[in-house]
This record gives sequence, C-alpha cells and structure tokens, in this order.
Amino acid sequence: MIDKINQLKKEIESLTASKAEEIEALRIKYLSKKGEISALFNDFRNVAAESKREVGQLLNELKNNATEKINALREALSDAADENNGIDLTRTAYPQPLGTRHPLSIVRDEICDIFARLGFSIAEGPEVEDDWHVFSSLNFAEDHPARDMQDTFFIQRSPDVLLRTHTSSVQTRVMEHTQPPIRIICPGRVYRNEAISARAHCFFHQIEGLYVDKNVTFADLKQALLFFAKEMFGSDTKIRLRPSYFPFTEPSAEMDISCNLCGGKGCSFCKHTGWVEILGCGMVDPNVLEACGIDSKIYTGYALGMGIERITNLKYQVKDLRLFSENDQRFLEEFQAAH
Ligand code: DAH
Repeated sequence: MIDKINQLKKEIESLTASKAEEIEALRIKYLSKKGEISALFNDFRNVAAESKREVGQLLNELKNNATEKINALREALSDAADENNGIDLTRTAYPQPLGTRHPLSIVRDEICDIFARLGFSIAEGPEVEDDWHVFSSLNFAEDHPARDMQDTFFIQRSPDVLLRTHTSSVQTRVMEHTQPPIRIICPGRVYRNEAISARAHCFFHQIEGLYVDKNVTFADLKQALLFFAKEMFGSDTKIRLRPSYFPFTEPSAEMDISCNLCGGKGCSFCKHTGWVEILGCGMVDPNVLEACGIDSKIYTGYALGMGIERITNLKYQVKDLRLFSENDQRFLEEFQAAH
C-alpha cells in the first residue's frame, strides 16, 4: 500500500496538461469517486491496525497533493489564456487579401527598367513649375499656344507659376546643373486644362528620355527606340518614324509601332492602318542645349517623350482613361497577375 501511495505521489508531481479537458481527465483519473486515490481509501480498511495511523496520514497527504496539483494546472492554463487575451494562437490565421499595384505603376516601372538596361538613370522634377523650365528653356516661342490659359493650369501670373504640362521640364532641370554625358529617364505626372472624357484627362503621366554626349546621332535614337519597342511589345514589333515638329527638337519625329493587337494586319484599334503612334522624339535643338549651359558645338543629344496611359492602353486595352484615377477596386484587381 505504501509503495502504491509513493508511486502515485511521484506520478502526480510530474503531471502536465495544456488543455482544460486534459486537466479534467486527470482529476477524474485520480480524485473522482472511482479514481485511483479513492480506490486506495477503499482499501484502507484492509490495512493492519498498527499501520493505519501512518498509512492514513500518507493517504491524506496524497489526496491533498493531487488536489493542489490539479488546481495549479488550472491556474497556469488560465494565466496563459490571459496573456493572449483569450485568443488561441495555435489556430491557423485567416488569409489576408493582398493589394495590387496600379497598372500605371506597373507599366512605368517596366519602361524605366528597359531604359535602365541601356544605361539610363531616373531623374525627377517638381510638378509645380515656372515658365522657364516648362516653356522658355525648351525653345517655345513667346506666343506658342501651349502657354495659353486653355492648355496650362496657372497658379499665378507674372512671375508665372504653373503645373507642368510635360515632363520635358526635367530635361532642363538636369542639364542646368550637369555636364554631359547625361542619360536620364524621367517619369512623372503632368497637367493640362482639358475637359475630362474617356479619351482625355486633366492629369496624366509621361516618361521623358534624354541622352546628351559627344557624337550622339539620330541613328542612336532609332536604335534605342527599336530596342524599347521590342522589349515592351514583343520581338516581332516593328517601328516607323514619321517627321513631326516639337519646339525643343530638330529634326523631330513621331514613332509608330506595328499594331500589337492585329500584328499589323489592320483592326479597329489601329483604324485599319496596322500602325499605332506611341511617342514623340528628336535631336535636342541646339538652342535648348545652349539655354541650359551646354556647348552645342561639342555636344549633341536625343530626347523622347511618351504617355504612360497610352502605353498601358496598348498593353492592356483600357478603353476609358478615367478608370486610371477612379480607384475602382474591380478594375485594379484585374492587374493582380500583371506583376
Ligand atoms: N513633351 C512632349 C509632349 O508633351 C513629348 C515629347 C516629344 C518629348 C518629343 C520629347 C520629344 O522629349 O523629343 O507632347
């Protein structure tokens, strides 16, 4: 009997449990009416009279120890629950829905990455600008229509403070304080005073490219543009350059790519021409280099500018420009797989 009591004593001392049900099972095992300790009390009457005193004491001690142990286990469990505010940290978590990147950010980064592979680095400038950086330094005539109230948002007149109408202003900002070689790509938001519709908005996004060094030629420009078009729209893409006019480039051109929807065969998107226009470009006008303090007898350069919305439309066929700024989650979630 004494051996059995000592064995149970040891067993009970080393009990552990991490759940309320486990503790209850232990209580039943040892302390309930049919439990092991009660069984010993039942056997007590068979103990020889001279041992009764000693065994009785040991039995009572065992019962007290077991009761204390069960209470201690219960307390430890409720402390642990308090620590975690009653939350079961072992449960699996609910899945968190992930956000998606904005299609314009995806396309902007893709364009910048392609030019980065050609050695271009990113430059940025302010959206609130002055006349010099947006117009005068870029060879715009005093009476150029782009300066008109109808196109430009003016914040203040004389001296003019305005919202930039293109990212070409960043060209000037960089050239003013950097001598060539300059090879930059400038993404940013621009503003024009236009009525908002599916095809026009009062703000949109552009990327400007500029490369100025000794011996930069139109052939370098064409090579960079072809590389860009193939990387962006696929290796079968063809380009064509049409003569155009911009005040800050001479000669100037507009670039078309073979329509990436019909492969150049002609469809409603390319108005059955097989070509779609994607950017403006040209050789930097010597007047612009000189206005920024760069010697046009030593250096030449090329520049290019494109609308990010336009490129995004071509890649993802977004029919309405307004979708880009409405933050409709159903639209944004369509680009989940795009990055
Ligand atoms: N700044 C022009 C625009 O907003 C785009 C552009 C055309 C930029 C030709 C250039 C360029 O650098 O060479 O329409």
